[in-house]
Amino acid sequence: MPEGFFVVSKNYLDLAIDELIAIAKMYDKFCKIKIISNIVIIQSKTNWEKIAERATFVKIAGQLLRKMSGLFLDEENFKILSRTNTYVCRTINLSSQNIDVTELEKTMGDIISKFTHAKVELEDPEITIYLIFTDKENFFGLSKKMKLQKRPLKIKNHPHELDWKLTRAMINLTGLKKGETICDPFCGSGTTLLEAESMGIHAIGIDFDEKMCEISRLNLDTNGYKSKILRSDFQELSKIGSQFDGIVTDLPYGRASKVSDKPEKILKKFFSIIPKRKKIAVMYKKELGEDLKLNGIKKYEIYRHKSLTRTILIR
Ligand SMILES: C[S@@+](CC[C@H](N)C(=O)[O-])C[C@H]1O[C@@H](n2cnc3c(N)ncnc32)[C@H](O)[C@@H]1O
Repeated sequence: MPEGFFVVSKNYLDLAIDELIAIAKMYDKFCKIKIISNIVIIQSKTNWEKIAERATFVKIAGQLLRKMSGLFLDEENFKILSRTNTYVCRTINLSSQNIDVTELEKTMGDIISKFTHAKVELEDPEITIYLIFTDKENFFGLSKKMKLQKRPLKIKNHPHELDWKLTRAMINLTGLKKGETICDPFCGSGTTLLEAESMGIHAIGIDFDEKMCEISRLNLDTNGYKSKILRSDFQELSKIGSQFDGIVTDLPYGRASKVSDKPEKILKKFFSIIPKRKKIAVMYKKELGEDLKLNGIKKYEIYRHKSLTRTILIR
């Protein structure tokens, strides 16, 4: 079974690794996963490009070729290179050793150029050959130029809006598939709805503030997305439970946006009404939820500044 390698950002390491695992399992629940530092190796019937396309915090991805103890220029790799016009060699050193990266890349390039017509292209090569060093094992990897992802347009922003990367990661952490439906009961300017729709997931937004509903509608219309928007209190979600598969939301903080009640009361009420069997990814100001008792959950802490740490909770 093919193996893909994925180097994730160290900024939100746990979240980035779990997001990748959730995506891989969503496509193939029998995939096998190995984690070495910030590199995740996934053995799966799903192509690495399909997994990387959905992930938010993947910096480099490709096909793992083989352990470095083997010969790189074997028949299979030779075939790939003979169909390629331009390539570059790059080193990923996750080991504790000091490696002369420039020398290594040059030597590897020299070897390859003796056997193929492919030319070295530093800026925009068709393929990149990776020499991956870790303290446990060393690998060869190969990556192709990936299609640039089209981002949804957001023509109207709002100061309290959630960063799209965290929103996208939260959606992925729920494991929801294309064609399923997400509900954001505090949808604000529509960040969750836009990210979900851009991944082929339908969305329903609820917000009690008509102005926020309008902003969401405008942002969705601009992209031709058809999410349903309800101007209502978040408790509406108990009535429409049969219409969605999961909840992804960012609860009010009590600053910058209108609130119907004290944020801590909203949070408590929200957790008392969320449907039991739905997948959820919820973000809130850490100290508001310190007394919450919930089972079967995973939590991440996102530090923003000294008076704001957010909790992301996944169930
Ligand atoms: C933190 S903001 C959500 C931001 C949103 N994720 C975005 O990216 O724009 C919280 C939202 O909850 C809404 N809200 C506050 N109280 C509410 C309630 N009782 N029911 C529904 N929405 C409410 C506010 O109008 C605000 O838009």
